[in-house]
Amino acid sequence: WRVHAPYIAAINDLKKEKNAVILAHNYMTPEIFYGVGDFAGDSLQLAKEAAKSDADVIVQAGVHFMAETSKILAPEKTVLIPDLRAGCSLASSITGEDVRLMKQKYPGVPVVTYVNTTADVKAETDICCTSSNAVEVVEHAAQEFGTDTVILIPDQFLAKNVAAMTDIKIVTWAGACEVHERFTAEDIREIREGNPGVVVLAHPECPPEVLEEADFAGSTSGMSNYVKENQPKNVVLITECSMSDNVALENPKVNFVRPCNLCPHMKRIDLPGILRSLQTMEHKVEIDPEIIEKARKPIERMIALPL
Ligand code: 13P
Ligand code: SF4
Repeated sequence: WRVHAPYIAAINDLKKEKNAVILAHNYMTPEIFYGVGDFAGDSLQLAKEAAKSDADVIVQAGVHFMAETSKILAPEKTVLIPDLRAGCSLASSITGEDVRLMKQKYPGVPVVTYVNTTADVKAETDICCTSSNAVEVVEHAAQEFGTDTVILIPDQFLAKNVAAMTDIKIVTWAGACEVHERFTAEDIREIREGNPGVVVLAHPECPPEVLEEADFAGSTSGMSNYVKENQPKNVVLITECSMSDNVALENPKVNFVRPCNLCPHMKRIDLPGILRSLQTMEHKVEIDPEIIEKARKPIERMIALPL
């Protein structure tokens, strides 16, 4: 923390000067998450904070699609992403044109889009979802459109995991999260063998056979809440590495077993980059106003659901 302290102090001073807030995803390293983050959470919580923030500037400590979501919900604000290379394998797997073609193939079928997508894709969407509300959103969309089928894109694994929890038929896309698709059922069995009694929590972007081996599946905040509420003696979070670091700091009595995968995109964001971003006001997220208008509706529909 000693190396981080000067950055943390300089960033927090600049935040006051520029009336800026930092929205930090659960996958940020602890010095960002605890040192400079004003709001921390999963994708849904960060989107809600962006919508209600009264700051002039939002710095997204997360990946590009999250910064786009903030800009869509708060177009009058300056939204900064400290590193333009902070992408996402799910967001880059599909384009707005791909969605238009799917809609032609399945006329009348509602399109539910995971928030891990670009603004162009959201603009073609009926309602968005996150990993914490996907089942409820899919069931809501089927009811509202009067269909027994829903398009849920672009994560094939999230789609399969949701399909296992509902009677609605699901059409999906071949996207995957490069962090979660690497976990296997064999990994979980080995972790259990080496750590008897360990509680296994997994993210719904993991393949279905991984979730079948887990004790609980939930969004990043879902996993964090599970640990807080249940205080397991031994736990493993089958997700991005920084999650365990952040949750461990708040749960000193819990032992964390640590196999995890790093997200190279999330790790593009660091304290020097956040400081530079506030000093230079770069990189501003700009989206065509027409796309903002179209992309806002499915996000707002999701936020308005009583979940
Ligand atoms: P949540 O924080 O919504 O669980 O999403 C995880 C993720 O992979 C975001 O990049
Ligand atoms: Fe995308 Fe996966 Fe990284 Fe999240 S963890 S930003 S879903 S690649």
